[in-house]
Amino acid sequence: MPPLPPDPSWHHDAIIYQLHVKAFRDSNRDGYGDFRGLLEKLDYIADLGVTAVWLLPFYPSPLKDDGYDIADYCGVHPSYGSLEDVVAFLDAAHARGLRVITELVINHTSDQHPWFQRARLAPKGSAERDFYVWTDDPNKYAGTRIIFTDTESSNWAWDPTAQQFYWHRFFAHQPDLNFDNPAVLEAVLDAMRFWLRLGVDGLRLDAIPYLVEREGTSCENLPETHAVLKKLRAVLDAEFPARIFLAEANQWPSDVRPYFGDGDECHMAFHFPVMPRMYMAVAREDRTPIVEIMAQTPPIPSQCQWAIFLRNHDELTLEMVTDDERDYMYNAYAKDPRMRVNVGIRRRLAPLMDNGRDEIELMHALLMSLPGSPVLYYGDEIGMGDNIYLGDRNGVRTPMQWSADRNAGFSTAPTAALYFPVIADPPYGYQTVNVEAQESTVTSLLQWVRAIVRLRRKYRAFGRGTFEPLDPANRRVLAFLRRWDHEVILCVNNLARHAQYVELDLCEFEGWSAMELWSGQAFPTIGSNPYLLTMSGRDFLWFRLMPPGGPERLGAIAPVGA
Ligand code: NOJ
Repeated sequence: MPPLPPDPSWHHDAIIYQLHVKAFRDSNRDGYGDFRGLLEKLDYIADLGVTAVWLLPFYPSPLKDDGYDIADYCGVHPSYGSLEDVVAFLDAAHARGLRVITELVINHTSDQHPWFQRARLAPKGSAERDFYVWTDDPNKYAGTRIIFTDTESSNWAWDPTAQQFYWHRFFAHQPDLNFDNPAVLEAVLDAMRFWLRLGVDGLRLDAIPYLVEREGTSCENLPETHAVLKKLRAVLDAEFPARIFLAEANQWPSDVRPYFGDGDECHMAFHFPVMPRMYMAVAREDRTPIVEIMAQTPPIPSQCQWAIFLRNHDELTLEMVTDDERDYMYNAYAKDPRMRVNVGIRRRLAPLMDNGRDEIELMHALLMSLPGSPVLYYGDEIGMGDNIYLGDRNGVRTPMQWSADRNAGFSTAPTAALYFPVIADPPYGYQTVNVEAQESTVTSLLQWVRAIVRLRRKYRAFGRGTFEPLDPANRRVLAFLRRWDHEVILCVNNLARHAQYVELDLCEFEGWSAMELWSGQAFPTIGSNPYLLTMSGRDFLWFRLMPPGGPERLGAIAPVGA
């Protein structure tokens, strides 16, 4: 089946569900999830109301970095299935109206990749050797930070076969490709075309700030790197209209902005800095961290969109905060050193919120209403826990909890054969935290998440609208407007654990009505005095504001950055 009807703006209204094939459902009893298992569970994903699925890497790999160490760009790891299974999955997803985003990991490969094996044997200076970045002098590029601070002490590793050092920004088993070699770009374009021809709708570009190295720089965000991205984008536009690039650039907003280019690089980029600030705002009961980072976020071209998230498969990164803020976050959310890894926190959403239902809902409300397309991490919709005794970032990558059956309904393999143990201890154990139980409970988190996803989808202002923070005296309340076309949405969030009242300056809307979106209830008409709301702890309210003559009275409002 061909991709969904071309819609060059689908990413603006996207709600993305992120998952690992390995972790979702095992169909063949080997203890690893696979594409056939994922197919069995596709209706579950569609029922969530999301519009797209993002699959973590599923390619042949020694799996020393959970598949981000790729040994073959155009294959499927045998534990996860075959290319035919992938095609069947793409067809089934498209048949349900779901788009599929996969990973294009081009900064580095596994050291098991044939290109690297060839490179180390090839003569110094040859085109084959030059697929990667080599040196005789490991003091080169000394201004470059180390990312995996817990495991690596240098970005260079010695290769005894090549008798040279090779460059790696991540693990030493992940040599960086050399984009100064034109053959590398051609090879990467072939991999890109391969998956787009199969029908994937978008590609997450992993680790793109680090593609090119130059002496005397931080080797991040270089103009040469942007030049590579523009070349990839030109091919994408020429050959695969309406497919998108999603940039993974863990950088400050002003440094991420260039990854959108003039609309000629990436269509989407993760907004990394806003993520820890949502947690900080809730812990501090103060809107300032969110308001400040949004103020520092530059406008982006109208055809582009942010992607925002609460948690993902990595640590909750604290690279884009100040030293004081980092200390605060560790203290608030990771008192046990086992909860920390590299520069971040390896925990899931529910444990971070101490399993507080109000807090989990408030965080989702922020995710669904701040600018950008929300990305949900599998398992967070049922409040799954984590396992901080697993190494690296694996504690947040445990099997999906489907039911109270053996192995949480994830697999019928012997329990010892599972790739990781399921979460079994209270309060997050699969016996109680599972999809089946939550499907049969009207008040469950899962049902609530489905409801908020559907509510968000009713109003395009959430995906496309302006972001206009209000400035009420009570800083425990974060209130903002989202306007687009004929919609004006007011979002009010009580970040505090106790009840608050807030007076909002809505004089611009005098005479307008306010309808609360969850209940459909009419609230008092907006008058000339400040609009007074009282809210219980960690509460949030979304209103649609309408002028007396109805929404048609509103002129159309273009999206931010238009
Ligand atoms: C970013 C990915 O999100 C992370 O999981 C991985 O370890 C690094 N890139 C290296 O590929």
